Amino acid sequence: MDRLAGILRQEIGADGRVLDAGSGSGFISNELCRRGIDAFAVDRCDYENRAREFGYPIIAVYQRDALGDAVDHVSSQFAAVLLIWPPYEQPFAFDIAKAMQPGQLLIFEGEGADGCTGDDKFFEYVADGNCWTALKGLSDQLDAVHVTFATQSDHWMIWRKAR
Ligand SMILES: C[S@@+](CC[C@H](N)C(=O)[O-])C[C@H]1O[C@@H](n2cnc3c(N)ncnc32)[C@H](O)[C@@H]1O
Repeated sequence: MDRLAGILRQEIGADGRVLDAGSGSGFISNELCRRGIDAFAVDRCDYENRAREFGYPIIAVYQRDALGDAVDHVSSQFAAVLLIWPPYEQPFAFDIAKAMQPGQLLIFEGEGADGCTGDDKFFEYVADGNCWTALKGLSDQLDAVHVTFATQSDHWMIWRKAR
């Protein structure tokens, strides 16, 4: 989190806002806010009530600034967008990336094109060097301190939207 916050500060400046799209519990946004990053967490799942409905223990929600479709929140007010473990059975990651504007930073954490995060159209899109500049040096900085759990092969990927 320290390293992610440092990269954000370096790339989007002190005033840059971050959209955490599909934030889940909002744990990451909360950690970023604690480090002075203005992160806005959006998820369409009402975890507390959903848990209650199914008789599960209440799921902790650390931060959620909006409940709804994160695609509707992509706008020029955000300098960077986080896509951390986006779902793969639907074109969510693609829709987010498509809605982004030139100059915005996209920070993805998950498995690659053959894994269980993100959709095929997303990986095809971000591989287009005319639309996206891959910032491999930054991804490597995060991967260097990333803990991968057994059976998972997730890693960080960072791009800047070119057009
Ligand atoms: C695998 S979870 C990852 C959650 C969180 N980013 C994390 O890493 O803990 C995927 C999340 O995406 C959310 N999601 C899927 N489609 C969405 C949409 N259109 N708008 C907002 N959230 C969405 C789901 O509700 C779920 O919480």
